[in-house]
Amino acid sequence: MTATFCEYKPGLEGIPATKSSISHVDGNQGILEYRGIDIKELAEKGSFLETSYLLIWGKLPSQEELREFEIDILFHRRIKYRIRDMMKCFPESGHPMDALQTSAAALGLFYSRRALDDPEYIRKAVVRLMAKIPTMVAAFHQMRKGNDAIKPNDELNYAANFLYMLTEKEPDPIAAKVFDVCLTLHAEHTINASTFSAMVTASTLTDPYGVVASAVGTLAGPLHGGANEEVLLMLEEIGSVANVRPFVEEHIAKKKRIMGFGHRVYKVKDPRATILQELAEKLFSSMGYDRYYDIALELERLVSEKLAHKGIYPNVDFYSGLVYRKLGIPTDLFTPIFAIARVAGWLAHWKEQLAVNRIFRPTQVYAGKHNAPYIPIAER
Ligand code: CMC
Repeated sequence: MTATFCEYKPGLEGIPATKSSISHVDGNQGILEYRGIDIKELAEKGSFLETSYLLIWGKLPSQEELREFEIDILFHRRIKYRIRDMMKCFPESGHPMDALQTSAAALGLFYSRRALDDPEYIRKAVVRLMAKIPTMVAAFHQMRKGNDAIKPNDELNYAANFLYMLTEKEPDPIAAKVFDVCLTLHAEHTINASTFSAMVTASTLTDPYGVVASAVGTLAGPLHGGANEEVLLMLEEIGSVANVRPFVEEHIAKKKRIMGFGHRVYKVKDPRATILQELAEKLFSSMGYDRYYDIALELERLVSEKLAHKGIYPNVDFYSGLVYRKLGIPTDLFTPIFAIARVAGWLAHWKEQLAVNRIFRPTQVYAGKHNAPYIPIAER
């Protein structure tokens, strides 16, 4: 049925594009719930894999279900040597998000059977993607330095193993726990740009590796997942607490965006930023403070002073970069880490989309010419 009246809204702002029971945001009160559970509770009491199970399968797992899920993921962490060989040919100067998008899509070549009505196929695709994406991110990081990929360590949990594959050192338990909470906080966030991209791709009934690859491509942009990387570059550019005020004033005068601030939905401080700030405080007090932490606090104070009336507060990306940097993670891996976490949300939406599928095919308001003449090339 064609709608008789549609108002065009750039960015589809405020237009419902789906019905979902995966997550909920109250942007005025600063609340985020996964399957009805407050993110603060999951961050404090749960783990990333438990949260992923909740998002994807719709309920908190029993002890046995969680154990089975963790073991399944453990068994599928390795990547095939031909994928590693392919990755060795990637240019080392390439961005890790491009490497990840290519490698995620390549999984479709190796697991090409597509049986979207088979629960076992769905389960395996979920496990493979969740298990292999961290390994691919870490493998590219090693390979671009000329090293072989570091094999996953079966003694370590999901978060600790990823940090291990980056350095070949077992991480400090506090660092691993903080990283696990970061993954939980980034796992899902309603119908954001990359999730919408995943849903549109899923609606064509293509394979899940293509779904995740398209979402990775969307997440890479600086207005979405790429912002956490930009935040760190910005803090480096500011360089000192004394430079914060001139930086903010110049940005506001020239109407330039300050990275890590503002959100389409939150008009108060993003609850994930509040939790991440607490984690940052914990990490900095155990590992030592540095000037970037002081610059960030002053930046939040001044931006809130000047832009709170527009509902501009720190978003999730503002403190996540600081935390990752303190964990020794290179800046250009911040967005791939966002992808490692968000794959849980993408897969939950993939499953939800398949259950009620109708291919996305919105309409447009045509603003071009009609009956335009074709001018022969020599006369143009
Ligand atoms: N710095 C300065 N001013 C801002 C900012 C910012 N970061 N964000 C919005 N504004 C101002 C904007 O200039 C506008 O002012 P005015 O009404 O005077 O023209 C007003 O706030 C509303 O802006 P908008 O463009 O209508 O807001 P939006 O909902 O379209 O944008 C956003 C949301 C996230 C794209 C934007 O806030 C932004 O570009 N932030 C910086 C990039 C960033 O941190 N992105 C991460 C987003 S959260 C994680 C994710 O989704 O991946």
